[in-house]
Amino acid sequence: MKVGIISGSHRINSQSIKIARWVENRLTSLALTQRVYTLELATANIPFWDEGMWNGEEKWKSIWSKHSTELTTCDAFVIIAPEYGGMVPPALKNIFLLCSNQELAHKPALIVGVSAGRSGSYPIVELRMSGYKNTRICYLPDHMIIREAEKMFLAEEPQSPVETDVRARLDYFLRVLKEYAKALSTVRASGVIDTKSFPNGL
Ligand SMILES: Cc1cc2nc3c(=O)[nH]c(=O)nc-3n(C[C@H](O)[C@H](O)[C@H](O)COP(=O)(O)O)c2cc1C
Repeated sequence: MKVGIISGSHRINSQSIKIARWVENRLTSLALTQRVYTLELATANIPFWDEGMWNGEEKWKSIWSKHSTELTTCDAFVIIAPEYGGMVPPALKNIFLLCSNQELAHKPALIVGVSAGRSGSYPIVELRMSGYKNTRICYLPDHMIIREAEKMFLAEEPQSPVETDVRARLDYFLRVLKEYAKALSTVRASGVIDTKSFPNGL
């Protein structure tokens, strides 16, 4: 199994990438996956979608194909979505435009909302409402919200009862993610998926 982690922050040294590294570590420590691919949007220098993407421009082949291949070979995803102005950051929305109906399709994803304060739910609502129609990403019913993110994952041991709960939930949701990955791989292998006749959803 291979898990893709997308860190949606625009910022270098973000809380999102700190959480992504924590998730990488837990996936490995809990022996849930053999391989992890982490896409840090703050450093990946992926431009915003333009029409050349659909016209097969050479520029886009060199920019996107390596990420596309990595994502296509993942079985499950963790989408880390910091709240920016009560929204999903544009760099993360951009990924949903760049993905075809292959990379994320019929694969489970755990959403992790992130806030420096007490917020963090808007990106979850936004992701659950949009972006899945053509990509066919399948979000788990459960999601994480990491509030007061700067206080989290700083030491070996949790520093508060809230962090103890956050860590326990995260481990549990990652275990659930693995089981969804196994289950949805049978959907993809079933022969029923027909993206030629139905490239886009309604
Ligand atoms: C452009 C921008 C807008 C933000 N808007 C919100 C917001 O609406 N709600 C919120 O809780 N935090 C907001 N924050 C603070 C983030 O929660 C904070 O940066 C947190 O560490 C997660 O983002 P990061 O992964 O970029 O570090 C915003 C931060 C930035 C840079």
